[in-house]
Amino acid sequence: MAADGPAPPAGTGPTPVKIREVTGDERLTTSFPLQSYAFGPSSAPPTDEELRPALPYHEGNRTMVVQDAGVTVAAASAIPMWQNLRGRVLDVAGVAWVVTHPLARRRGHSRDLLHHLLGEMRQQGHVASALYPFRSSFYARFGYLNLPKPRTVTFRPEDCAPLLKADLPGDITWRPFADGYDDYRLFQRRLLDRRHGFAMPPEHQSAAARDAGDRWLATARIDGEVVGMVTYRIDGQGGRLRADDLLTVDAFGRALLLRFFALHVDQVSEVVLTVAADEAPELWLSDLTARVETVISFPSAPPPMARLLSVEGLRGVEAGPGRVGVEVVDDPFMAGRYRLDGAGGRLVVEPGAKRVSAVLTAAGLSGLVYGVLDPVDVLARGLGTFADDAVAQLRSLFPRAVPCVFPPR
Ligand SMILES: CC(C)(COP(=O)(O)OP(=O)(O)OC[C@H]1O[C@@H](n2cnc3c(N)ncnc32)[C@H](O)[C@@H]1OP(=O)(O)O)[C@@H](O)C(=O)NCCC(=O)NCCS
Repeated sequence: MAADGPAPPAGTGPTPVKIREVTGDERLTTSFPLQSYAFGPSSAPPTDEELRPALPYHEGNRTMVVQDAGVTVAAASAIPMWQNLRGRVLDVAGVAWVVTHPLARRRGHSRDLLHHLLGEMRQQGHVASALYPFRSSFYARFGYLNLPKPRTVTFRPEDCAPLLKADLPGDITWRPFADGYDDYRLFQRRLLDRRHGFAMPPEHQSAAARDAGDRWLATARIDGEVVGMVTYRIDGQGGRLRADDLLTVDAFGRALLLRFFALHVDQVSEVVLTVAADEAPELWLSDLTARVETVISFPSAPPPMARLLSVEGLRGVEAGPGRVGVEVVDDPFMAGRYRLDGAGGRLVVEPGAKRVSAVLTAAGLSGLVYGVLDPVDVLARGLGTFADDAVAQLRSLFPRAVPCVFPPR
């Protein structure tokens, strides 16, 4: 199937297997054919001409492959991104396009490749990793755990009509997404600084959405300053206005954008909008009839997942006044003992704690730091065990906080 030939049949004995990085045009004959088979409609080997247009959007990614006797049998990529974790913007490795040749599956290739790729990203300073799984249990083996998924809100534009008469400051500009792309990136950067969990993809990846040319962009401004943005498309008269992520800094940004949707009352029957997991549309307007939902299914509608790659890299994240010695176990990247102290409002991490009162898996610690698990959840999920007052100390160090995670665009 791949341009460099079929995989060797199972059971041919030891062959020289190596993991290496591929860059540039090499992707056309190594990683891309496997990825195209696994993730697209597939009925014939893709041609170079079909694959080449995607190359620029992968150029900043770290793509690694497993080759067995020269044949590419597995591939995976890491996308260097940024994410706000409790007030600090950290380098985070987005993992994508993990695939093994159909004849080489269940032989441990993806496991070896992921360990290698995550190790390299950690060495380059990436403190955590995030991804969208085809199935969570596969990535749970690698220390990842589920994060909250954004909700969709479906409502009729006429329900936002009261906003047409509301005394709101500011105005809306409306243009093709490609025209407002630079402003959109700047606004994402501002949200990255302020919202826990918010992630920003690199320029080379976002450029794919800009070049697709299939979105409008509405921008809310007050006194010239952007307070809200949303990209969207309309699927036809009387149909739906399908909006992507509602990005706002405050309630004025949201109200201005909802008012803009109200102006589409004669054009569409419904607006479908993606909002962060902690949004409550019942608080937006008095008589808004809406359906708020999230569908979780694999592989087509998974929740995001994340894991930490480094405990030392968490220094300086916002923390409560707890203090505890923890041991991370069963993990190639973080195993060891650490003393965690949040007394000054920012986390201090000292390796080599003498006294340990919490034993945590990578997923257990990740869940606490991302704010999605309470220590009792960690216990109940079998992701850690505690002694003495560790539950209270960890709860104080890492209070629950809903991360605002949107798909990278
Ligand atoms: C999913 C996929 C990448 C796994 O690759 P692989 O090389 O067969 O995986 P490995 O042999 O390295 O398996 C690693 C571990 O995951 C387990 N595993 C493999 N496939 C799994 C699955 N579908 N669900 C849950 N666990 C799975 C294995 O049993 C093994 O567990 P172990 O470490 O306890 O022994 C491969 O089946 C594939 O290419 N699928 C199609 C593309 C795809 O869905 N990619 C994922 C995109 S997010």
